[in-house]
Amino acid sequence: MKEKWYKPMAFYQVWPRSFKDGNGDGIGDLYGVLDKLEYIKSVGVDGIWFSPLYVSPNADYGYDIADYRNISPEYGDLAIFKKVLEKAHALGLKVVMDLVVNHTSDEHEWFQRSRRREAPYTDYYIWRPGKADGAPPNNWDSLFEGKAWAFDDVRGEYYLHLFAKKQPDLNMDNPAVREEVKAVMRFWLDMGVDGFREDVITFISKQAGLPDDPTPFARGMKYYKNGPHLREYLAEFRHDVLDQYDCFALGEAPMMTPEKALGFIAEGEGQTLDLMFHFQHMEADCFFTEYMHLPFRLRKLKRAFRRWQKKLAGKAWNTLYLENHDHPRIISRYGSEKYRAESGKTLAAAYLFQQGTPFVYQGQEIGMSNIALPSIDDYTDVLAKNNYKKYIKRQSPEKALRRIQRACRDSSRTPMQWSGGANAGFSEGEPWFALNPNYPEVNVAKEDADPDSLLNFYRAALSLRKNTPAAIWGDYREYRKISGKLYVYAREYEGQRLLVVCSFSEKPVRFKAPGGFRLEGKKPVLCNYPDAAVKNGGFVTRPYETRVYVL
Ligand code: GLC
Ligand code: CA
Repeated sequence: MKEKWYKPMAFYQVWPRSFKDGNGDGIGDLYGVLDKLEYIKSVGVDGIWFSPLYVSPNADYGYDIADYRNISPEYGDLAIFKKVLEKAHALGLKVVMDLVVNHTSDEHEWFQRSRRREAPYTDYYIWRPGKADGAPPNNWDSLFEGKAWAFDDVRGEYYLHLFAKKQPDLNMDNPAVREEVKAVMRFWLDMGVDGFREDVITFISKQAGLPDDPTPFARGMKYYKNGPHLREYLAEFRHDVLDQYDCFALGEAPMMTPEKALGFIAEGEGQTLDLMFHFQHMEADCFFTEYMHLPFRLRKLKRAFRRWQKKLAGKAWNTLYLENHDHPRIISRYGSEKYRAESGKTLAAAYLFQQGTPFVYQGQEIGMSNIALPSIDDYTDVLAKNNYKKYIKRQSPEKALRRIQRACRDSSRTPMQWSGGANAGFSEGEPWFALNPNYPEVNVAKEDADPDSLLNFYRAALSLRKNTPAAIWGDYREYRKISGKLYVYAREYEGQRLLVVCSFSEKPVRFKAPGGFRLEGKKPVLCNYPDAAVKNGGFVTRPYETRVYVL
């Protein structure tokens, strides 16, 4: 399992709108990215995943694409993209694009022509007449905006949208649509990009007949999640395109289990994806992402980590992440805003040394935390707005707002905090979206100058990972499995052992090194408190203490 270039690497995710504004209009862009490539490199990663940069009316901030072959004018143009690509490559950074092909924008030319029944676009989308009484073709729910069907007056039929109304689903059963997808892939691969993160790719094949679904919520999901032709279509993309390039395909896979994942990412014959973003470890404080909030349970997190580490071992490669543009900030969820830096470090150590390719989301490395805006009107995400409308049917507006504040995607989409100066150094103009008011304390400039900052912990951790074979190739073994406060795991490879101890509690917990580990007299290679002494075979943890030993 050694040959693939992405295995020892780590990636940084850029959500372009909020990363860095280079031309003063308040919106992040590729001029800003160009300027910050050295910074990204300095974090210790080997590549960048760009959330969508394409032309889009931004009903879902780029995940509704109107032109797959051009850069949004808000972000720049193809010329500046090529410069970014070239400079990234010169710095030794890979560049991975988002590929969003479950749906397009309703403003895409294909949709505009499809609704007018113009060949060859007539069947590019999933069109159906309503039922005899005019009701939608089936009872499926969309994930973002009411029912999964919207009636189009131009065509006189319903179209399917699993996400927002402005995101009509492509009809992947149509071979012409698959050819379009392959052509888009070739367009970017020929330009030199190194792979794709494939947006909700496991939803692209829908059950024939689109039957009604008796399930009480997320109706329809069982008929499109890992649908009947998914493997076949992925194999086609791989065989016809991806195999011809030195690139990877990372599929986003909601509701995925490791057992099912192996059907896609197990190495060898029949492998259709290289990597996969699953969600199980993101549900240690909720059920079904924003559906139901629960208190954070470390045991639930550990169980998810363990299952993926164990089930994929020797068969497939894991993908590691704690944040992206779809989840609130991790310190606010699994850590502690009070112990921001300490818990940020424990969280970093908890995932960066597992087996797999880690992803770090912009701002995660400096410990950005959630925002709580005073009114729903201050939020901007389509999902937050629609969830709020749903919640106030049953709850007071105050309660509904609190739910949004706790779990909306906008919390991870505030502008990157570069400095304590005007607009957090993000833009010379008025930022497009609220800044987190903590930017005078939490910012890149300040953390860069502080050797004990979270940023410098990320740098040290990523460098340690890269230079420690056990951290990359080692077997995974967990200790203190039933502890609700400590997460302890070891990696072992060719006689080298790495031991990671992470406390997820403010309270002191007695940690005793597992049998076979002698920590006396050893200095941790990474830790988040001074004086990391060991007594009687262990130590008592300080709030959110973490230590990493190489033995
Ligand atoms: C993925 C994206 C998310 C988007 C959705 C629909 O989950 O990460 O941001 O809204 O797909 O494209
Ligand atoms: Ca700009």
